[in-house]
Amino acid sequence: MEITDAVRQGLTSSPRYLPLWFRYDKTGSILNDKCLTDNKYYYFHKSELDIIQRYIDDMVCHVKFPCSLVDLGSGNSVKTRRFIDFLLKYQDKLKYIPVDISEDFLLETSNALSEIYTNRLTVQPVAGDYSIGIEEIGKLSGNKLICWFGGLQNEPRTQQTSRILSLSRNMSGICANLYLNALHRLNRDFQGNFKIDNFKLEVSFSRDLSVKGSSAVIIRVRSTCKHEVRIPGLNLTLLLEEGEYIDLFEGEGVSHKYTLDQIRGLAEEGHLHIENMWTDGGNHVAYVIFSKLSNAKPADT
Ligand SMILES: C[S@@+](CC[C@H](N)C(=O)[O-])C[C@H]1O[C@@H](n2cnc3c(N)ncnc32)[C@H](O)[C@@H]1O
Repeated sequence: MEITDAVRQGLTSSPRYLPLWFRYDKTGSILNDKCLTDNKYYYFHKSELDIIQRYIDDMVCHVKFPCSLVDLGSGNSVKTRRFIDFLLKYQDKLKYIPVDISEDFLLETSNALSEIYTNRLTVQPVAGDYSIGIEEIGKLSGNKLICWFGGLQNEPRTQQTSRILSLSRNMSGICANLYLNALHRLNRDFQGNFKIDNFKLEVSFSRDLSVKGSSAVIIRVRSTCKHEVRIPGLNLTLLLEEGEYIDLFEGEGVSHKYTLDQIRGLAEEGHLHIENMWTDGGNHVAYVIFSKLSNAKPADT
């Protein structure tokens, strides 16, 4: 779906929402980097790096060489660089396919990586949604290692809550700028006249421990007064009531958190088998290797 169609659809839905990916233009990607590194409450990024540092040998032992490396939602590729360095110990050259919706940032990162690794790394960036990246993966021949550094989190419920609370206490700072970038971008790219002061950023945690569910973070802006917003670039005028909110994601929430049973349920639904699982020292984040079930029907794989 085109950006304008997706954004218009969200803003005219009830309740209104903006897709999560909309915050990731170049400004959003730079703010995301700041959020990852400068926000001391953002444990996720550090925990992921911790797992990679401890277990990269184990993770890569499932890989058949030579392989290509695909990175879904590559961002600044900092985590993936650990894999690039590791794989280049076992093969002379590597094809790297970063996929990201934030096109300008993706191209800058790709150029920087090409310069760093010169002729040992062929970077083939794919700008677009994950679905486009997944389609590209289908066209790639040979062995592939596919990274998707995202939000599978496995920790006790009480700890999850305190982490989320730490995050939300820090919302007025670094991460808030990232979340609000979706509104700023409507002003920048579609000549909107959103007044950020007319909104309050709200973050909460939605808990669902059922096997087929997942818990998630809810991030939304709530209008503090009745007002009108014009977005000429979308040919849209919004009449917002006091207390009305716009979700800053589509669907049920963002940064979904899973219990072990929920990860197993997810694997089962996708006809996958859990090959191995690693967690960081604090048990906050789990990386999982899924493999195809040998009796899965070809059409389902
Ligand atoms: C939380 S960041 C993670 C970046 C990096 N993989 C890491 O772990 O540090 C999410 C990344 O996914 C990208 N992204 C978000 N939604 C996307 C979508 N629907 N399709 C493709 N990329 C997306 C964003 O631009 C951003 O770079």
